[in-house]
Amino acid sequence: ASTASAARIVEHTFNVQNLTLNRLCNGHVITAVNDSLPGPAIQAREGDTLIVHVVNKSPYNLTIHWHGIFQMLSGWADGPDMVTQCPIRPGTNYTYRFKIIRQEGTLWWHAHISMLRATVYGALIIRPRAGYSYPFPKPYREVPILLGEWWNANVVDIDNQAIALGAGPNISDAFTINGLPGDLYPCSRNQMYKLKVKQGKTYLLRIINAAMENHLFYKIADHKMTVVAIDASYTNPYVTDVVAIAPGQTVDVLLTANQPVGSYYMAATPYSAVIGLPFDNTTTRGVIVYDSAPSSKVPLMPVLPLFNDTPTAHKFYTNLTSLVSWPFWDPVPLKVDHEMFVTVGMALEACPPNTTCLGPINGTRFSASMNNESFVLPTGLSMLEAFFFNVGGVYTTDFPAKPPIEFDYTNLAINNNLPMLFAPKGTKVAKLKFNSTVEMVLQNVAILGKDNHPMHLHGFSFYVLAQGFGNYNPATDRRKFNLINPQLRNTIAVPFGGWAVIRFVANNPGVWFMHCHIEAHLPMGMATAFVVENGPTPETTLPPPPADLPTC
Ligand code: C2O
Ligand code: CU
Repeated sequence: ASTASAARIVEHTFNVQNLTLNRLCNGHVITAVNDSLPGPAIQAREGDTLIVHVVNKSPYNLTIHWHGIFQMLSGWADGPDMVTQCPIRPGTNYTYRFKIIRQEGTLWWHAHISMLRATVYGALIIRPRAGYSYPFPKPYREVPILLGEWWNANVVDIDNQAIALGAGPNISDAFTINGLPGDLYPCSRNQMYKLKVKQGKTYLLRIINAAMENHLFYKIADHKMTVVAIDASYTNPYVTDVVAIAPGQTVDVLLTANQPVGSYYMAATPYSAVIGLPFDNTTTRGVIVYDSAPSSKVPLMPVLPLFNDTPTAHKFYTNLTSLVSWPFWDPVPLKVDHEMFVTVGMALEACPPNTTCLGPINGTRFSASMNNESFVLPTGLSMLEAFFFNVGGVYTTDFPAKPPIEFDYTNLAINNNLPMLFAPKGTKVAKLKFNSTVEMVLQNVAILGKDNHPMHLHGFSFYVLAQGFGNYNPATDRRKFNLINPQLRNTIAVPFGGWAVIRFVANNPGVWFMHCHIEAHLPMGMATAFVVENGPTPETTLPPPPADLPTC
């Protein structure tokens, strides 16, 4: 008992290298961590220090991001390529060190460069510190459920080709549950995730959407689930028969094996909002098998929502609330220092000379923007180094607090919206004073693309005050704000034809990336960053970089 609150050091080595795997009838060479797909699950407790030695034996430049970790005063360990570090070159190493504080539940880690995260990802599980317990009955067992997306072709090649053509990457060949496609795909009968359960016991499923381009529905035949946490923060228990989960998000659910002894499929299938876009409209499934279930019986299959079932997705997304009795809950700040209205959407750019482009107007290719600014990563020096060493010319601090023009953001006709069709390129960030409170309206722009954009903020969780459809209207929509127990997230699906309002306190100095977690939209420029100034004391000042920080 004397060690009840003693924080520990949790240490891992990630050997990143080629791995040959059989999937969908053929052998494929992928980049993997410690020869496994998904990579190793990290098990930690709130208060622990995590040390991960990344040894890059792969042929590619690499960085690892700890998705959702606050990285308080440890921005050097955040990981996005050229934002907080230069890449770890093939044959070199970097050690990520950070403390996990004031967050509990499920997060995950993934490569944050090119499309490597398709195979370089894993769970990051944060339990309460010793002597503390979950705000729900202790589950009999805990099970990570990583939903992924698989390509038969090399994902770095796919990425390079997509960027050159200025179109989205080729659609994936399968979805996966814990790396396995399941028996609805060719040659995959024996590559199906199987979870054995005991009747009457309760399991904590830690569901992670690690898919690259797709929002997903997740369902289990004949069983209800009780949501208890999202994005590593606890929720009031919410009973549902289906989970909607955007790329980057996590959802922890309790599952009680309270049905007749038997076998039941679990399945994940895409949620895409709008008919007409090409996407991987297939289903992955795994199976839940009760102890002593007869193997002769065909498992029951859940009836999945249609891919464009927006009411079901919206209901799930908007019914979750935070558990304010959690000791680490901070009330929503009521005074806002920095108000922003930010559009997120697709755009066009000129096709580079001597290139074949696939844009909808001749001589163009797709790009993407926030407030009509299409973000470009710097080269030569990372943004965090530029911040720390005060080097100019790497980024500018003129990211606009509102779009250049106002119009009907939900209008699909290109011609009406010409002023926002071509977005200038730049590395524009918003500068924030230490401890200032930011409120951001995220407005989905319908021009050219019909996606729900899962906007992810590094370094912070934000309160989701409200979400809705149409053009955001402050006069009426502010009345819908939940300022009592709004959900806390690091990734919000900004609905197609709609908006979401988030609020956060910039209490962590450094450079924090914000971007769409649909992998195709990131290199197209749907991103910006916050540069948060140092606070007044040494305890609120970003320390110098570790000695082994990679150089460019
Ligand atoms: Cu999970 Cu910047 O990403
Ligand atoms: Cu997007």
